[in-house]
Amino acid sequence: MVTRVITVTPFDIVVFGGTGDLARRKLIPALYHRDLDGQLPAEARIVGVSRRELSTDEFRALGRESVLAHVKPADIEPGRLEGFLARLSYAALDAATDIGWEALAKALEGGSGRVRIFYLATAPDLFGEIVAGLARHRLVTPKTRVIVEKPIGTDLASARALNDAIGKVFPETSIYRIDHYLGKETVQNLMALRFANALFEPLWNAAHIDHVQITVAESLGVEGRAGYYDTAGAMRDMVQNHIMQLLCLVAMEPPPSMDADSVRDEKLKVLKALKPLAEGAALAATVRGQYRAGASSGGAVPGYLEELGDPGSRTETFVAVKAEIENWRWAGVPFYLRSGKRLASRVSEIVVAFRPIPHSIFGAAAGAIDANRLVIRLQPDEGVKLWLMIKDPGPGGMRLAHVPLDMSFATAFDVRNPDAYERLVLDVVRGNQTLFMRRDEVEAAWAWIDPILDAWRNAADPPRGYTAGTWGPSAAIALIERDGRTWYEDGE
Ligand code: BG6
Repeated sequence: MVTRVITVTPFDIVVFGGTGDLARRKLIPALYHRDLDGQLPAEARIVGVSRRELSTDEFRALGRESVLAHVKPADIEPGRLEGFLARLSYAALDAATDIGWEALAKALEGGSGRVRIFYLATAPDLFGEIVAGLARHRLVTPKTRVIVEKPIGTDLASARALNDAIGKVFPETSIYRIDHYLGKETVQNLMALRFANALFEPLWNAAHIDHVQITVAESLGVEGRAGYYDTAGAMRDMVQNHIMQLLCLVAMEPPPSMDADSVRDEKLKVLKALKPLAEGAALAATVRGQYRAGASSGGAVPGYLEELGDPGSRTETFVAVKAEIENWRWAGVPFYLRSGKRLASRVSEIVVAFRPIPHSIFGAAAGAIDANRLVIRLQPDEGVKLWLMIKDPGPGGMRLAHVPLDMSFATAFDVRNPDAYERLVLDVVRGNQTLFMRRDEVEAAWAWIDPILDAWRNAADPPRGYTAGTWGPSAAIALIERDGRTWYEDGE
């Protein structure tokens, strides 16, 4: 299958935090790929900004390193790489002062009629200063858009303050709050699966669905980000954004169209219908864990506290939550959510577990009849599996087997799976906000999370330890098993 590439309108993108981890690992490689596919117009420019004193040549060298390190060798075409690097320029700027803004203005010269994008890939405490600086230095044109990376605050109050600061300079229609999970192919496929097929929607409710599981498991630890991570923890780092967005896409009503506000209105309704969890109820419906030394990816790994160098930290590296949505469609259907670092494998998936059949006509010799399950695998090995009961082939009696109707996207489509950032950055150029979070969504997610964090803060117990390389604390297994259900590991 051939992907269709439509060149976008001319634009300039300015990356604050241009020498940082996100720019090097994700943004520069993503823009290179889009250029390689012919999607960037000849005029498009990429400006790196950070406090570091670098020349444009040094920034281009950093861009080259980033492409060589993060793009597959087969996708590196030397001539095209040089062409891409020629788009890069650099401005050293300290957002807290008035130093360096002229250099940025110079880098943007001649581009006032184009789409202009400011990507804030810095620590969030700089967002306010950066947007104020952009306004003060008259860098905001009518076609300017701003991309804001997570974390958007650490609780509802700080998220509101950040949103207010950004909102002073940009209207909501120009603010793109990124959640890179929404740019993942399979996440968008969730919408295709639900709303481009007649098969599932009639069954997509409490009458036919027993429960839903959403797992985002990582085998890696905190990878040199312990400083940031210790201020966040799994709840803020993964659940407040990625997992709650997945929950919204599974649970929302069909929007009338893919138009940004239609989709976001429906997601917001889900967030507002979440059963509040506070105090004792929050402690009963959640489990916090912290990894201890163990084995991961075949080698011995230290525990979180050793990695952090602070034996007193109570930051959770694992969280499991039993969430409920109080509306007609979902009343009584638990959504079990879990995410953690240093788990047994890297797997992100959504399992929609249907109710069992009401009556078996087959008798005991046929074996157990398992309920149907739809497993949407986000990564790795993206695909969809629909688990069905069939007759075990062969002569003899009627024996039944549970087997998946299995669609692996890699096998079904012979195309490279683009990184989420490729899709999302280009959506900003096109002015499409569908896959970005609106202010009210972010704040509604915090409004649900805050009381849980309060309950944890007030609890006497620290997070429960789990050995690195396992599926988290045994209490997380008990959380679901006391409801007579079990986590499906790796889609099985
Ligand atoms: C980020 C988190 O948002 O998502 C990281 O801050 C996490 O801690 C990452 O590792 C996971 O993203 P992905 O795309 O690798 O699943």
